[in-house]
Amino acid sequence: MILAVETSCDDTCAALVADGQIRSNVISSQAAAHERYGGVVPEVASRHHLELIDRIILAALAEAGASLDDVDALAVTRGPGMVGPLLVGITAAKALAASRRKPLAGIDHLQGHVAANFLAPDPLEPPFLCLVASGGHTLLAGVGDRSGFEILGQTLDDAAGEALDKGARLLGLPYPGGPGIERLAREGDPDAFDFPVALAHGGGLDFSFSGVKTALLLAVRGLEPDELDRRRADLAASYQRAVVDQLTARLERALEEGTWEAVALGGGVAANGPLRERIARLCEERALRLKLVPMELCTDNAAMIGSAARFVDATPYPDYLGWDAWA
Ligand code: KG4
Ligand code: ZN
Repeated sequence: MILAVETSCDDTCAALVADGQIRSNVISSQAAAHERYGGVVPEVASRHHLELIDRIILAALAEAGASLDDVDALAVTRGPGMVGPLLVGITAAKALAASRRKPLAGIDHLQGHVAANFLAPDPLEPPFLCLVASGGHTLLAGVGDRSGFEILGQTLDDAAGEALDKGARLLGLPYPGGPGIERLAREGDPDAFDFPVALAHGGGLDFSFSGVKTALLLAVRGLEPDELDRRRADLAASYQRAVVDQLTARLERALEEGTWEAVALGGGVAANGPLRERIARLCEERALRLKLVPMELCTDNAAMIGSAARFVDATPYPDYLGWDAWA
């Protein structure tokens, strides 16, 4: 059984995973602590992780009905992410592993999002194409085996989730903005504003979201306060449409360029209903298998880190004691 820890951003997470089965998956979101800043403040996140990490690990063990004696190896996210938050998880995992002389696996956060697809029930076998879209990353990963992936395209500026969070802020919605935009967009017209879909004709498989964000800013500035209030839902719907259009278009381009039989989604933005629907339609038209993991495995969690750890060699004690974060 693997005890996994994930603290790369603002969720304090611990999980127990045995042979690809989730035994427990505990997530404590700090979103409320960061709401008034409109984004994650690294130092605030680090301090919250420090307060929470012991409790979350104990809760994960209790929920699985396990003790440290049942744990064969530990796993922890080493990066990419915010260095302060990462170091809290890394230090906790090192200390726990060292106290029992157990091995520790250092995991890439993005590999974690990919590895969420290897968990039971119904694990997805490579090869498959995986779109990972979160607050920190947006990439198309070609997954050839269970221990790694090839980056086929990635964002040249903002991540998709970051663009949604910043857009939400312009519309007066709380952090994190993705769910708020999705809710508000249901009442709006996605054709109301013609926001640009970047790199529609060039750029290969890369993404760019800074243009659409600027377009929203200019649209918001161009409206009188009462009109802005009336048109917030239209702005949200049109903005969400531009982000979803770009993600879908790039996935479609990747499917045309390669030979893939299955598609998976990962990262917090994969919780978005319209994105899921569009990609489901795309896969149906092409008779491709689509793997959609449950929402709690799309956003940050430690079960995905435990899943990734099954396919890498853990580092034996005491070789991990000097580990730093991967910035
Ligand atoms: O993977 P994640 O939990 O953390 C990072 O690694 O960043 O992703 C968080 C991101 C945030 O930007 C949030 O706004 C976005 O995922 N998100 C959504 C939805 N739920 C979360 N975006 C669109 N629609 C949603 N329903
Ligand atoms: Zn993530």
